[in-house]
Amino acid sequence: MDTILSGMRPTGRLHLGHLHGALKNWVRLQNDYRCYFFVADWHALTTDYAAPQEINHYSREILIDWLSVGLDPSRSVIFRQSRVKEHAELHVIFSMITPVPWLERNPTYKDQIKELTEKDLSTYGFLGYPVLQAADITIYKANKVPVGVDQAPHVELTREIVRRFNQTYRPIFPEPEVLLTETQKLPGVDGRKMSKSYNNAVFLSDSPKEIEQKLSRMMTDPARVRRTDPGEPEKCPAFEFHKVYSLPEEIETGAKGCRSAGIGCLDCKKIFIKHVIDDLAPAHERRRQYENKPDEVEEILARGNQVAQTKAAETMAEVRAAVGL
Ligand code: TRP
Ligand code: SF4
Repeated sequence: MDTILSGMRPTGRLHLGHLHGALKNWVRLQNDYRCYFFVADWHALTTDYAAPQEINHYSREILIDWLSVGLDPSRSVIFRQSRVKEHAELHVIFSMITPVPWLERNPTYKDQIKELTEKDLSTYGFLGYPVLQAADITIYKANKVPVGVDQAPHVELTREIVRRFNQTYRPIFPEPEVLLTETQKLPGVDGRKMSKSYNNAVFLSDSPKEIEQKLSRMMTDPARVRRTDPGEPEKCPAFEFHKVYSLPEEIETGAKGCRSAGIGCLDCKKIFIKHVIDDLAPAHERRRQYENKPDEVEEILARGNQVAQTKAAETMAEVRAAVGL
């Protein structure tokens, strides 16, 4: 059976963008693969080293977000990166064989330096981010990595590091592959990409009331200034929610009503708002249960850390023997 590994940086609560972009897929993958999912708290430290309290807070929040949507600790190994020190040891070994130019030409690196100007990204740790990621992946001998396209260069770099390691010492690592999945894109309530930093996100932990409030106010086709103005669904960010959530006949009704000004925007939105809330209902129920039993969440994490650590230690024993120090 193939092994899957993926992780997320604990820098905020998770929202519908994460749900449709990654988590629904992760939940499905649990049926067919041996899965490792981890909270990448050291990776969060590369960009937010001055805010460890926040990283701690979100490390816990993210875990509850994951469990609420159906990541299942009885099938998947769910753990926290900094609790498995072997990642750091393998990172050191990999950093010895990784040429600096490989890191400097990494497109994600260049993009982030350009975009996140308010952050101090001039560190050694941030440049080496993909080397740490290579260690995360290979220490479990994962061969499939489900990530978005933005992360594909990191997996490609992992393959190059693996090849160099296998050639220099002994072939102990498989070359991992990106598992690109068709995901549905949902815009934020202002029509831009959903992101906590844009303040336009619907969070998994939002109550049905908050969801309704946010989505009722969501941006629509700007041409529909008045109720009597016809609109064009393809120019309406809210319509993207219909496409993901509504039944075909509801989508049809919304689109027709929009073009003929036969339906008001609020009535049009009400249709998908109900589906969003219904779809999240089981997650809300599970979240309530976990929030009432904080010890159980701790135990789940402790067990996952333990299982991950055992596997990581096994791999590191092989690595040490191969390197031969
Ligand atoms: N870099 C990933 C992100 O920002 C998180 C991550 C860290 C990761 N290590 C990983 C993802 C290993 C997949 C595999 O989203
Ligand atoms: Fe968007 Fe629906 Fe309003 Fe048309 S009627 S602009 S699809 S919310």
